[in-house]
Amino acid sequence: QTCILIGAPVDSGKQRRGCLMGPDAYRTAGLVESLEELGHRVIDQGDVTRAEKSLTAPDAKIHYWSETIAWTEALADAAEAAMQKGLPIFLGGDHSLAAGTVTGVARYANAQNRPQFVLWLDAHSDYHTPTSTDSGNLHGTPLAYFTGREGFEGFPKVKQPIPQENVCIIGLRSVDTAEREALMASQIHRHDMREIDESGIAKPLAAFLKRVAEANGLLHVSLDVDFLDPSVAPAVGTTVPGGATVREAHLVMEMLHDSGLMTSLDLVELNPFLDERGRTATLMVDLAASSLGRKIFDRPTRSHL
Ligand code: ARG
Ligand code: MN
Ligand code: MN
Ligand code: MN
Repeated sequence: QTCILIGAPVDSGKQRRGCLMGPDAYRTAGLVESLEELGHRVIDQGDVTRAEKSLTAPDAKIHYWSETIAWTEALADAAEAAMQKGLPIFLGGDHSLAAGTVTGVARYANAQNRPQFVLWLDAHSDYHTPTSTDSGNLHGTPLAYFTGREGFEGFPKVKQPIPQENVCIIGLRSVDTAEREALMASQIHRHDMREIDESGIAKPLAAFLKRVAEANGLLHVSLDVDFLDPSVAPAVGTTVPGGATVREAHLVMEMLHDSGLMTSLDLVELNPFLDERGRTATLMVDLAASSLGRKIFDRPTRSHL
Protein backbone atom coordinates (compact mmCIF):
# COMPACT_ATOMS: atom_id res chain seq x y z
CA GLN A 1 0.00 0.00 0.00
CA THR A 2 0.95 3.61 -0.42
CA CYS A 3 0.16 5.55 2.75
CA ILE A 4 -0.18 9.30 2.39
CA LEU A 5 0.40 11.16 5.66
CA ILE A 6 -1.40 14.49 5.82
CA GLY A 7 -0.84 16.73 8.84
CA ALA A 8 -4.03 18.50 9.91
CA PRO A 9 -3.04 20.78 12.82
CA VAL A 10 -6.64 21.81 13.47
CA ASP A 11 -7.17 23.44 16.87
CA SER A 12 -10.39 25.39 16.17
CA GLY A 13 -12.91 22.74 17.25
CA LYS A 14 -12.74 23.56 20.95
CA GLN A 15 -11.20 26.11 23.33
CA ARG A 16 -8.41 24.10 24.95
CA ARG A 17 -5.32 24.46 22.79
CA GLY A 18 -2.70 21.87 21.91
CA CYS A 19 -4.05 19.60 19.15
CA LEU A 20 -2.08 21.64 16.63
CA MET A 21 0.99 19.78 17.89
CA GLY A 22 -0.57 16.42 17.04
CA PRO A 23 0.93 15.87 13.57
CA ASP A 24 4.49 16.35 14.83
CA ALA A 25 3.85 14.11 17.84
CA TYR A 26 2.84 11.24 15.52
CA ARG A 27 5.96 11.83 13.43
CA THR A 28 8.10 11.92 16.57
CA ALA A 29 6.48 8.71 17.81
CA GLY A 30 7.71 6.98 14.64
CA LEU A 31 4.62 6.63 12.46
CA VAL A 32 6.59 6.73 9.18
CA GLU A 33 9.08 4.09 10.34
CA SER A 34 6.34 1.83 11.75
CA LEU A 35 4.47 1.79 8.45
CA GLU A 36 7.61 1.34 6.38
CA GLU A 37 8.56 -1.62 8.54
CA LEU A 38 5.28 -3.24 7.48
CA GLY A 39 6.34 -2.92 3.86
CA HIS A 40 4.29 0.13 2.96
CA ARG A 41 5.44 3.03 0.86
CA VAL A 42 4.96 6.16 2.97
CA ILE A 43 4.66 9.68 1.60
CA ASP A 44 4.54 12.43 4.23
CA GLN A 45 2.97 15.43 2.53
CA GLY A 46 3.58 17.70 5.52
CA ASP A 47 0.85 19.83 7.04
CA VAL A 48 -2.17 21.31 5.27
CA THR A 49 -2.63 25.07 5.60
CA ARG A 50 -5.90 26.95 5.61
CA ALA A 51 -7.07 30.30 4.25
CA GLU A 52 -7.77 33.36 6.42
CA LYS A 53 -11.50 34.02 6.58
CA SER A 54 -13.76 36.22 8.57
CA LEU A 55 -17.34 35.08 8.57
CA THR A 56 -20.00 35.61 11.16
CA ALA A 57 -21.08 32.58 13.17
CA PRO A 58 -24.82 31.84 13.29
CA ASP A 59 -24.69 32.14 17.07
CA ALA A 60 -22.35 34.02 19.40
CA LYS A 61 -21.73 30.86 21.45
CA ILE A 62 -19.88 29.14 18.54
CA HIS A 63 -16.08 29.22 18.79
CA TYR A 64 -13.76 29.64 15.78
CA TRP A 65 -16.46 29.38 13.12
CA SER A 66 -14.37 30.93 10.29
CA GLU A 67 -11.25 28.93 11.08
CA THR A 68 -13.17 25.67 11.08
CA ILE A 69 -14.81 26.49 7.75
CA ALA A 70 -11.40 27.28 6.25
CA TRP A 71 -10.00 23.97 7.55
CA THR A 72 -13.00 22.10 6.17
CA GLU A 73 -12.44 23.52 2.70
CA ALA A 74 -8.69 22.87 2.71
CA LEU A 75 -8.95 19.34 4.10
CA ALA A 76 -11.78 18.30 1.77
CA ASP A 77 -9.58 19.20 -1.19
CA ALA A 78 -6.52 17.51 0.31
CA ALA A 79 -8.49 14.35 1.09
CA GLU A 80 -10.04 14.10 -2.36
CA ALA A 81 -6.63 14.53 -4.02
CA ALA A 82 -4.89 12.03 -1.71
CA MET A 83 -7.48 9.32 -2.44
CA GLN A 84 -6.22 9.19 -6.04
CA LYS A 85 -2.74 8.34 -4.77
CA GLY A 86 -3.16 5.92 -1.89
CA LEU A 87 -4.54 5.51 1.59
CA PRO A 88 -4.58 8.88 3.35
CA ILE A 89 -3.88 9.04 7.09
CA PHE A 90 -4.90 12.40 8.54
CA LEU A 91 -2.80 13.40 11.53
CA GLY A 92 -4.97 15.62 13.72
CA GLY A 93 -5.80 17.98 14.98
CA ASP A 94 -9.15 17.94 16.75
CA HIS A 95 -12.21 16.07 15.50
CA SER A 96 -13.67 19.05 13.62
CA LEU A 97 -11.16 18.07 10.91
CA ALA A 98 -13.42 15.15 9.96
CA ALA A 99 -15.90 17.62 8.47
CA GLY A 100 -13.26 18.15 5.80
CA THR A 101 -11.71 14.71 5.47
CA VAL A 102 -15.02 12.84 5.17
CA THR A 103 -16.33 15.40 2.67
CA GLY A 104 -13.24 14.88 0.54
CA VAL A 105 -13.27 11.09 0.59
CA ALA A 106 -17.02 11.09 -0.14
CA ARG A 107 -16.41 13.20 -3.25
CA TYR A 108 -13.89 10.64 -4.42
CA ALA A 109 -16.26 7.72 -3.67
CA ASN A 110 -18.99 9.45 -5.62
CA ALA A 111 -16.70 9.85 -8.63
CA GLN A 112 -15.92 6.12 -8.40
CA ASN A 113 -19.61 5.31 -8.16
CA ARG A 114 -19.07 3.54 -4.86
CA PRO A 115 -20.81 4.16 -1.52
CA GLN A 116 -18.83 5.73 1.31
CA PHE A 117 -19.02 4.25 4.83
CA VAL A 118 -17.70 5.77 8.07
CA LEU A 119 -16.58 3.99 11.26
CA TRP A 120 -16.51 6.46 14.18
CA LEU A 121 -14.48 5.23 17.18
CA ASP A 122 -15.27 7.72 19.92
CA ALA A 123 -16.65 8.21 23.44
CA HIS A 124 -18.81 10.96 21.91
CA SER A 125 -21.23 10.97 19.01
CA ASP A 126 -20.18 14.43 17.70
CA TYR A 127 -23.71 14.71 16.30
CA HIS A 128 -24.57 18.25 17.42
CA THR A 129 -25.62 20.90 14.95
CA PRO A 130 -24.38 24.49 15.41
CA THR A 131 -27.89 25.12 16.77
CA SER A 132 -28.07 22.24 19.27
CA THR A 133 -24.53 22.49 20.72
CA ASP A 134 -24.30 23.72 24.31
CA SER A 135 -20.53 24.09 24.39
CA GLY A 136 -20.19 25.90 21.07
CA ASN A 137 -17.27 23.58 20.29
CA LEU A 138 -17.38 22.51 16.65
CA HIS A 139 -15.45 19.27 17.30
CA GLY A 140 -18.81 18.07 18.65
CA THR A 141 -20.47 18.50 15.23
CA PRO A 142 -18.66 16.81 12.28
CA LEU A 143 -20.88 13.74 12.12
CA ALA A 144 -23.96 15.99 11.84
CA TYR A 145 -22.26 17.97 9.08
CA PHE A 146 -21.30 15.14 6.77
CA THR A 147 -24.58 13.29 7.20
CA GLY A 148 -26.28 16.42 5.93
CA ARG A 149 -27.93 17.94 9.01
CA GLU A 150 -28.98 21.61 8.93
CA GLY A 151 -27.25 24.63 10.41
CA PHE A 152 -23.88 24.62 8.66
CA GLU A 153 -24.55 27.49 6.23
CA GLY A 154 -21.16 29.00 5.39
CA PHE A 155 -19.48 25.57 5.35
CA PRO A 156 -18.95 23.90 1.96
CA LYS A 157 -22.30 22.54 0.82
CA VAL A 158 -22.52 18.79 1.46
CA LYS A 159 -23.22 17.40 -2.01
CA GLN A 160 -22.73 13.74 -1.09
CA PRO A 161 -24.11 13.37 2.44
CA ILE A 162 -23.08 10.06 4.02
CA PRO A 163 -26.28 8.01 4.40
CA GLN A 164 -27.08 7.48 8.09
CA GLU A 165 -27.14 3.69 7.69
CA ASN A 166 -23.54 3.85 6.38
CA VAL A 167 -22.26 5.24 9.68
CA CYS A 168 -21.30 3.11 12.69
CA ILE A 169 -20.23 4.60 16.03
CA ILE A 170 -18.48 2.36 18.56
CA GLY A 171 -17.35 3.36 22.06
CA LEU A 172 -20.15 5.71 23.13
CA ARG A 173 -20.33 6.80 26.75
CA SER A 174 -20.88 10.57 26.61
CA VAL A 175 -23.87 11.65 24.55
CA ASP A 176 -25.73 14.93 25.17
CA THR A 177 -29.54 14.97 25.32
CA ALA A 178 -30.05 16.69 21.96
CA GLU A 179 -27.61 14.28 20.32
CA ARG A 180 -29.30 11.26 21.88
CA GLU A 181 -32.70 12.30 20.54
CA ALA A 182 -31.36 12.93 17.04
CA LEU A 183 -29.39 9.66 17.06
CA MET A 184 -32.39 7.65 18.22
CA ALA A 185 -34.42 9.10 15.35
CA SER A 186 -31.66 8.22 12.86
CA GLN A 187 -30.48 5.06 11.13
CA ILE A 188 -26.93 5.53 12.41
CA HIS A 189 -25.55 2.31 13.94
CA ARG A 190 -24.50 3.13 17.48
CA HIS A 191 -22.82 0.86 19.99
CA ASP A 192 -22.26 2.07 23.54
CA MET A 193 -19.79 0.72 26.11
CA ARG A 194 -22.53 -1.30 27.81
CA GLU A 195 -23.07 -3.25 24.61
CA ILE A 196 -19.32 -3.83 24.32
CA ASP A 197 -19.20 -5.04 27.93
CA GLU A 198 -22.11 -7.40 27.34
CA SER A 199 -21.26 -8.81 23.91
CA GLY A 200 -17.70 -7.80 23.04
CA ILE A 201 -16.37 -5.32 20.50
CA ALA A 202 -15.86 -7.78 17.60
CA LYS A 203 -19.55 -8.45 17.03
CA PRO A 204 -20.88 -5.01 16.04
CA LEU A 205 -17.70 -4.33 14.05
CA ALA A 206 -17.92 -7.59 12.10
CA ALA A 207 -21.57 -6.87 11.25
CA PHE A 208 -20.67 -3.41 9.98
CA LEU A 209 -17.68 -4.65 7.94
CA LYS A 210 -19.92 -7.24 6.34
CA ARG A 211 -22.27 -4.52 5.13
CA VAL A 212 -19.38 -2.46 3.78
CA ALA A 213 -18.06 -5.49 1.89
CA GLU A 214 -21.45 -6.42 0.46
CA ALA A 215 -21.94 -2.87 -0.83
CA ASN A 216 -18.40 -2.72 -2.28
CA GLY A 217 -18.02 0.43 -0.22
CA LEU A 218 -15.10 2.64 0.71
CA LEU A 219 -14.45 2.82 4.44
CA HIS A 220 -13.23 5.88 6.31
CA VAL A 221 -12.18 5.25 9.91
CA SER A 222 -12.11 8.14 12.38
CA LEU A 223 -10.24 7.26 15.58
CA ASP A 224 -10.67 9.72 18.46
CA VAL A 225 -8.11 9.35 21.27
CA ASP A 226 -10.96 9.42 23.79
CA PHE A 227 -12.32 6.13 22.36
CA LEU A 228 -9.57 4.71 24.58
CA ASP A 229 -9.66 4.62 28.35
CA PRO A 230 -7.94 7.69 29.85
CA SER A 231 -5.71 5.42 31.94
CA VAL A 232 -3.94 4.31 28.77
CA ALA A 233 -4.49 7.44 26.65
CA PRO A 234 -4.36 10.55 28.84
CA ALA A 235 -3.44 13.06 26.10
CA VAL A 236 -6.90 14.31 25.21
CA GLY A 237 -8.96 17.25 26.45
CA THR A 238 -12.22 15.33 26.71
CA THR A 239 -11.37 12.22 28.74
CA VAL A 240 -14.31 10.01 29.71
CA PRO A 241 -13.70 7.08 32.08
CA GLY A 242 -14.66 3.57 31.01
CA GLY A 243 -13.19 3.56 27.52
CA ALA A 244 -11.83 0.86 25.24
CA THR A 245 -8.86 -1.11 26.49
CA VAL A 246 -5.59 -1.41 24.59
CA ARG A 247 -6.64 -4.94 23.64
CA GLU A 248 -10.10 -3.97 22.39
CA ALA A 249 -8.64 -1.15 20.33
CA HIS A 250 -5.98 -3.38 18.75
CA LEU A 251 -8.62 -6.00 17.95
CA VAL A 252 -10.66 -3.37 16.11
CA MET A 253 -7.63 -2.27 14.13
CA GLU A 254 -6.56 -5.84 13.33
CA MET A 255 -10.05 -6.71 12.12
CA LEU A 256 -9.98 -3.62 9.93
CA HIS A 257 -6.75 -4.82 8.40
CA ASP A 258 -8.01 -8.37 7.87
CA SER A 259 -11.13 -7.00 6.16
CA GLY A 260 -9.04 -5.13 3.59
CA LEU A 261 -11.79 -2.50 3.54
CA MET A 262 -10.25 0.60 5.13
CA THR A 263 -9.51 3.27 2.53
CA SER A 264 -8.75 6.29 4.76
CA LEU A 265 -7.99 7.00 8.43
CA ASP A 266 -8.20 9.97 10.81
CA LEU A 267 -6.14 10.05 14.02
CA VAL A 268 -7.78 12.83 16.03
CA GLU A 269 -7.89 14.74 19.33
CA LEU A 270 -4.34 13.95 20.45
CA ASN A 271 -3.19 16.87 22.61
CA PRO A 272 0.55 16.32 23.10
CA PHE A 273 0.60 19.06 25.76
CA LEU A 274 -1.37 16.67 27.99
CA ASP A 275 0.67 13.54 27.28
CA GLU A 276 2.93 11.57 29.61
CA ARG A 277 6.29 10.87 27.98
CA GLY A 278 4.59 10.35 24.62
CA ARG A 279 2.63 7.28 25.67
CA THR A 280 -0.64 8.34 24.01
CA ALA A 281 1.05 9.29 20.73
CA THR A 282 2.91 5.96 20.80
CA LEU A 283 -0.29 3.98 21.41
CA MET A 284 -2.03 5.77 18.53
CA VAL A 285 0.91 4.95 16.24
CA ASP A 286 0.75 1.30 17.34
CA LEU A 287 -2.98 1.22 16.61
CA ALA A 288 -2.43 2.71 13.17
CA ALA A 289 0.20 0.02 12.57
CA SER A 290 -2.28 -2.72 13.57
CA SER A 291 -4.80 -1.35 11.08
CA LEU A 292 -2.13 -1.59 8.39
CA GLY A 293 -0.97 -5.11 9.04
CA ARG A 294 1.08 -5.40 12.20
CA LYS A 295 0.12 -8.66 13.92
CA ILE A 296 1.40 -11.41 16.16
CA PHE A 297 0.46 -14.46 14.05
CA ASP A 298 -1.38 -14.85 10.77
CA ARG A 299 -5.08 -15.65 10.84
CA PRO A 300 -7.14 -17.25 8.08
CA THR A 301 -8.37 -14.41 5.86
CA ARG A 302 -11.67 -12.82 6.89
CA SER A 303 -12.11 -15.27 9.76
CA HIS A 304 -14.02 -12.60 11.64
CA LEU A 305 -16.85 -12.27 9.15
N1 ARG B 1 -20.79 16.70 23.20
C1 ARG B 1 -19.80 17.53 23.76
C2 ARG B 1 -19.81 18.91 23.10
O1 ARG B 1 -20.57 19.15 22.21
C3 ARG B 1 -18.42 16.90 23.65
C4 ARG B 1 -17.90 16.76 22.27
C5 ARG B 1 -16.58 16.09 22.29
N2 ARG B 1 -16.11 15.88 20.96
C6 ARG B 1 -14.90 15.45 20.66
N3 ARG B 1 -14.60 15.37 19.38
N4 ARG B 1 -14.03 15.15 21.58
O2 ARG B 1 -19.04 19.77 23.46
MN1 MN C 1 -14.77 12.97 18.58
MN1 MN D 1 -14.53 12.16 21.64
MN1 MN E 1 -24.76 -2.00 14.10
